[in-house]
Amino acid sequence: MLTITPAKALKGNVVIPGDKSISHRSVMFCALSKGTTRISGFLSGADCLSTIDCFRRLGITIDCDLPAGKVTVEGKGLYGLKPVSGDTAELYTGNSGTTTRIISGILTPQSFTTMLSGDESINQRPMKRIMTPLTRMGADITSVHNNGCAPLLIHGRSLSGITYQSPVASAQVKSSILCAGLYAEGPTCVIEPALSRDHTERMLSSFGAKVISEGNSATVYPADELFAQEIIVPGDISSAAYFIAAALLVPGSEILIRNVGINPTRAGILTVAEAMGADITYLNLKTDGEPTADLLVKASPLKGTTVEGAIIPALIDELPIIAVMAACAEGTTVIRDAAELKVKESNRIETVTENLLAMGARVTPTQDGMIIEGGCMPEGNHPLQGTLIHAHKDHRIAMSFAVAALAARKETTIDDESCVNISYPGFFADLQSLR
Ligand code: S3P
Repeated sequence: MLTITPAKALKGNVVIPGDKSISHRSVMFCALSKGTTRISGFLSGADCLSTIDCFRRLGITIDCDLPAGKVTVEGKGLYGLKPVSGDTAELYTGNSGTTTRIISGILTPQSFTTMLSGDESINQRPMKRIMTPLTRMGADITSVHNNGCAPLLIHGRSLSGITYQSPVASAQVKSSILCAGLYAEGPTCVIEPALSRDHTERMLSSFGAKVISEGNSATVYPADELFAQEIIVPGDISSAAYFIAAALLVPGSEILIRNVGINPTRAGILTVAEAMGADITYLNLKTDGEPTADLLVKASPLKGTTVEGAIIPALIDELPIIAVMAACAEGTTVIRDAAELKVKESNRIETVTENLLAMGARVTPTQDGMIIEGGCMPEGNHPLQGTLIHAHKDHRIAMSFAVAALAARKETTIDDESCVNISYPGFFADLQSLR
């Protein structure tokens, strides 16, 4: 339980911790390369620690100095993983969808059997989206309770490349298939309805795999070996999003948000914030590898907008905080084409709607998004009310409503804030440092 009081102007600097998606992939791909690799800027969130734990159990030596963001991986090559010990050969992926789905693609072509399971939330999230294409490649992957969810039983098999038209724009699905494709006979192509984050394509190709990206498709060719690179993980724009919103919403604020990854397949929040009238200045832009910048964000009056179509995958994790911004904007915001919100760590159409309504905002859930009537200006006629927020063990709900609490009229209590450790253990300390 954590109580947050309304904020006066927020001022100062915040250095954003490492990107969750890139941190996961750095451990996975370094483990599959030969030799020792150093990763810096690694995110010590619980999800990424689940990935480290899984690869240790698959026989990879990984040394960590987590407070310093340093991780060293002794890669064993594409065929160097060992079966998990124990009768059930069970690997536990915690709350992490990224670990569960991508590791499935890595495990299906191995020469051993693995059982994958996670926490209560993971064991209810859809896995058919990876089982279907992996099975088409020749994989033997089954849902133990036959409900399309984990636990998943994977018997290693040899695979053939496929061309897969994915019904969802999902980087976890795409990455799972591309990783399996490294081991398959012939090329493997994934075509998405809209382009999802492309970290896997960028990283595999810098590790020496042949990966060709064209529009919404990515093709990987079978690899003999991966060559690990030293990896510097940029800050996570999904974590930066909370500070962007906090600076915009709390009158008089000015925050310098440092080390933000602004890969275009992730940076939809910036496009939407700017369309809403945000004052954001890009400083210290770096375009070598994953692009990064420092963002100077000043409090701004926001107006409603429509968020739909191809931009959705580039801001899917930011929709809860965008909804909070929309409640504080002038006019109506429509979010559509975002049915994927229903299958995240919580059903985020429901959990965002429930909590915004509790704060006095006007929001209507829809099949694939929500409609938010703005007007809850921090200094206006309809401010957000302080209330009890139910985080539903969803880190992005807890952080989004912690920001809403700063712009609310009275204090707000979050029922269980510990879930922020999934992606941002230092979140509340960083937020407090700006007050
Ligand atoms: C992720 C992809 C997205 C995102 C998740 C991380 C990744 O999920 O929501 O937080 O690292 O590939 P989907 O692939 O299910 O869209």
